[in-house]
Amino acid sequence: MRIQRSLIRLLILCSLCGLIASADAAPLRPTHAPHAMVASVHELASRAGLEMLRSGGNAVDAAVATGFALAVVYPQAGNIGGGGFLLLRNANGETHFIDFREKAPAAATENMYLDAQGNVLPESSKDSSVVGYKAIGVPGTVAGLVYAEKQYGKLTIEKVMAPAIKLARDGFSLAYDDAQDFKEDEHLAQFSESRRIFQRDGNYYQPGDLFKQPELARTLERLAKDPDTFYHGAMARELAVAIQKGGGLVTAADLAAYEVKEREPIRGSYRGYDVISAPPPSSGGVALIEILNILEGFDLAKLGNRSAAAIHLEAEAFRRAFYDRADFLGDPDFAKIPVAQLIDKKYAAAWRDSIDPNRASVSKDLKRPSFGELERVAQSRPVPNREPQNTTHFSVVDAEGNAVSLTTTLNDSFGSRVTASGLGFLLNDEMDDFAAKQGVPNVYGLIQGPANAVGAGKRPLSAMTPTIVVKDGKLFLVLGSPGGPTIITTVANVLIGVVDFSLDIQEAVNAPRFHNQWLPDEILVEDRVSPDTMNVLRSDGYKLRVEHFWGDGECIMVDPKTGERLGASDGRNNGKAVGY
Ligand code: GLY
Repeated sequence: MRIQRSLIRLLILCSLCGLIASADAAPLRPTHAPHAMVASVHELASRAGLEMLRSGGNAVDAAVATGFALAVVYPQAGNIGGGGFLLLRNANGETHFIDFREKAPAAATENMYLDAQGNVLPESSKDSSVVGYKAIGVPGTVAGLVYAEKQYGKLTIEKVMAPAIKLARDGFSLAYDDAQDFKEDEHLAQFSESRRIFQRDGNYYQPGDLFKQPELARTLERLAKDPDTFYHGAMARELAVAIQKGGGLVTAADLAAYEVKEREPIRGSYRGYDVISAPPPSSGGVALIEILNILEGFDLAKLGNRSAAAIHLEAEAFRRAFYDRADFLGDPDFAKIPVAQLIDKKYAAAWRDSIDPNRASVSKDLKRPSFGELERVAQSRPVPNREPQNTTHFSVVDAEGNAVSLTTTLNDSFGSRVTASGLGFLLNDEMDDFAAKQGVPNVYGLIQGPANAVGAGKRPLSAMTPTIVVKDGKLFLVLGSPGGPTIITTVANVLIGVVDFSLDIQEAVNAPRFHNQWLPDEILVEDRVSPDTMNVLRSDGYKLRVEHFWGDGECIMVDPKTGERLGASDGRNNGKAVGY
């Protein structure tokens, strides 16, 4: 997993620069462009979007082209077999949030991932929620991207899919990290089609090798001609047969019943900036606004960027927002989510009063302030869940000032590791984003409530946080990242970096990250946080867990004075911001 890779990899990567397709590591300055920008985890996907912008397309055309291209060049998380969220803000201020999250198949049941003793099935089980056919939720990506293109794009589906088809058919040169990901994944080899495509049956791809995907190219060509085939035509039947042959639950009827939802985005404000973000079934926007509301009452700028005092207050805000996330968040079509109370500034003020400026709170002793309906709903019993770190985000701003913030996922890296037989694309393990069982902390220790129990036709709770920030009616920031629960705090870290600490967008993306998710009761810190700062945090009562790095902020800022587009791709990964 990328979170655990050492600096050596970056050094090797640099030594190979020029030989293989890879971006420079850790840019220190943003990419400048006068008109438009695309930032994504893969330069070829960013360039697919740029091609649309240069040929008369708008931000949605570019986003759809980038999204399909990522399904080819970044199969770890880019996808047509998964789902995601697209946040669009047009230059005239109109916003649209497109939910194309996967749904549980009709045959899914609350206890489907428990054994006869009531224990969660391990990853090695053929019926696991993580690996294999039972983990697959009904994919939403094709529906979401096609819906966005038809409703808000200017070009045709054929045009925006053309770069992805070419990349799949003609191939592209594999970067070091991608070749390593293909080789090192511990589950891909369990599925013969995945082993053949991504691991050449054991003759592993080397950095610089040309990676061609003829089956995927054919699938994309069919979709470009007739996108509806994925849900209602021959492809739906082929996909359902492939999944059911392996013991999965998704049927042709599930695919036919899939629907994209347009939802009202979550809105908040922070120090005079308007923040627009993801509503349930993501927890991202609600938690982000709650965090910002709590922090608005503190003068973080005075405390100093990455000072122990500032990290302490931010971590306490994170802790409280994740505590609420655990109890209240789930699919709004199935459970009443008290969004208005959770993002109320008066509620945040009550939480703020519970923070000791000099001492870490204890997660198990946290007491929710009495506020509106929240106490009553919170009687429900918490449910733990694991949330993998692998997802991908990209941002687009076009010449008119329309902006797209899009986060998409297969859940784990390479999803369920199942490749749809004959169709050439990987399928998600999004079913694992449901809470499989109550009361037992899992590998990531993340806790969730019954609102997120498995249920037929339900969308699992997400942390994806595509976000747009506006100042005085003008587009300012387009933000997002992968990282499971750390998505929310990564977006907060970047946003606070710009707004409170006056960092430019690249500095804010590069700055060391920290994360608290209520349970486990610890702060996760990147190892570039200074040792002195870590020691002060320890003396304040924090347990620290130090990781090399996580996340992948692919973000854009619009310079308020010049209108220039400033793209920031994250040096923690291989991405690239490109513009014109
Ligand atoms: N599967 C990652 C997320 O939705 O947050």
